[in-house]
Amino acid sequence: MSLRLAILISGRGSNMATIARECRDGKINATVAVVISDVPTAAGLELARGFGIETCVVPWQGAAARDAFEGGIARAIDESAADLVVLAGFMRILSPPLVKRYAGRMLNIHPSLLPKYRGLHTHSRVLGAAEREHGATVHFVTAELDGGPAVLQSRVPVLPGDSEASLSARVQSTEHIIYPRVVDWIATGRLRWQNGQLQLNGKRLDTPVVEDFTASGQPVPGQP
Ligand code: GRF
Repeated sequence: MSLRLAILISGRGSNMATIARECRDGKINATVAVVISDVPTAAGLELARGFGIETCVVPWQGAAARDAFEGGIARAIDESAADLVVLAGFMRILSPPLVKRYAGRMLNIHPSLLPKYRGLHTHSRVLGAAEREHGATVHFVTAELDGGPAVLQSRVPVLPGDSEASLSARVQSTEHIIYPRVVDWIATGRLRWQNGQLQLNGKRLDTPVVEDFTASGQPVPGQP
């Protein structure tokens, strides 16, 4: 049976589009049931409609209306009968009760090698700290911000002369490889969540799988 996905976005939607393309092309045995955005003008909504995917906007109307907002998000997810919730550039922090409702069924991608650089502006912070490497992490979402069990990381070099734009472009090109892969691992049953403990291919996964990429965003050859 095909896994049903609800993808939440706030902006461009390039990760969403990559996952939608792989589902459409039969590379992942999943269906994007709905794309939900808190931002009515998010460019990714048009992209989703271009794939023929149903879209839903639940506008953010300030912290005072958080409960109504989260109720709307949960309704949209549940009406889609999604098995897996995929946060892809969704810029709102979800409260612990909502996160708990989807425990083990909600993924996020964060643009850093977690646990380093939780939070915002990761690329400029990495440049400011003169790091030699950077990357992205796909992780399950728990109530701890950017702190849930990590599954897969892409690691890229930081080059002399990198700008925030060049570094974020390098990291994002690898996001488009690792995020669909983790969705595929779940769709095929290779990756399982059991009470907060991850199993990959039947073995405990205590630390994420790390894949190295070259400066041009290609996987370094010869990795398992
Ligand atoms: C990505 O860089 C992701 O790591 C972060 O938000 C960005 C979303 O980009 N969480 P897009 O909307 O998927 O193009």
